[in-house]
Amino acid sequence: MRLAAAGLNPIDWKIADGMFGDAMPASFPLVLGSDGAGEVLAIGSGVRRFTIGDAVFGQFQRPAQGGGSYGELALADEDRIAHAARSVTYASSAALPTAGMTAYNLVEETRVGEGRRVLIVGATGGVGTFATQLAAGRGAEVIATARPAKAELMRTLGAAETVDHTAGSVADQVLAAHPDGVDVLIDMTGGPEDFAKMTRTVRDGGIAVSLIGSADADELTEHNLRGFNFVNRPSPQLLEILAGHVDAGRLTVLVGREVPLEEAPEALAASRTGRAQGKTVLAL
Ligand SMILES: NC(=O)c1ccc[n+]([C@@H]2O[C@H](COP(=O)([O-])OP(=O)(O)OC[C@H]3O[C@@H](n4cnc5c(N)ncnc54)[C@H](OP(=O)(O)O)[C@@H]3O)[C@@H](O)[C@H]2O)c1
Repeated sequence: MRLAAAGLNPIDWKIADGMFGDAMPASFPLVLGSDGAGEVLAIGSGVRRFTIGDAVFGQFQRPAQGGGSYGELALADEDRIAHAARSVTYASSAALPTAGMTAYNLVEETRVGEGRRVLIVGATGGVGTFATQLAAGRGAEVIATARPAKAELMRTLGAAETVDHTAGSVADQVLAAHPDGVDVLIDMTGGPEDFAKMTRTVRDGGIAVSLIGSADADELTEHNLRGFNFVNRPSPQLLEILAGHVDAGRLTVLVGREVPLEEAPEALAASRTGRAQGKTVLAL
């Protein structure tokens, strides 16, 4: 692949920090970067779905081989890429794979839809902006966390309401407005203690999901809740669905920043603060 853009995700700096340990062995030198988009430059003999010159997007991180998307040239596994949406730039396509597939699987696995109220904590981030759109698109009532400056944007994306996570307890604010609670909690930011507090917002029998491993299944059962620590299951079919949503105008990709590859270290540092504004894309 000749990549035109790489999309930055928090998992990139988590890999750099060695956070996954033996679960994700790496070869060095290691090129960082899961997500990317660009053009097929050459294909292996068994490749059937792509031909030279195709515009594609997907996931490129192969820590065991040392490969990733933060570079002009990358190797791709056929089953980790798909044809890119026709209506958007490579930068937007590069911002879509990991966060988009995560959001799609989240709304599927929590059965978010018509008549369900869902609280998304971390809604203004990469995963959250996609999850808000996909959940609202299925008819769910979305309550999204957002600072005041982002509230209007989140409503444009389909949120019925926003809660300012900088203005006191999110759980208290949600329960004040909805004493009967929410059906589904999707939490991207809370550690175990904060996640446990946030589950107070979920009605009896509801679902609580953590994206960062904070859910304790036994504790959830004790409180008559269902829940799990989310693990993403990427697939080329999912990439195709997302590209289709983008082309149909059902999914907007919000690229917050586009920076040259040389600025990757600074962009990773910004992501590490948890305050990245929209998706960051590296121009290659
Ligand atoms: N388990 C999995 O398979 C999986 C898959 C994908 C992602 N993840 C993880 O999910 C997390 C989110 O990923 P992402 O790509 O969406 O990150 P991101 O784009 O960096 O977004 C982070 C967002 O969280 C918001 N935020 C930070 N602290 C908050 C708080 N206390 N309350 C409410 N919102 C808060 C930030 O908004 P403000 O700046 O306005 O506070 C920012 O918009 C990361 O830790 C990532 O590693 C896990």
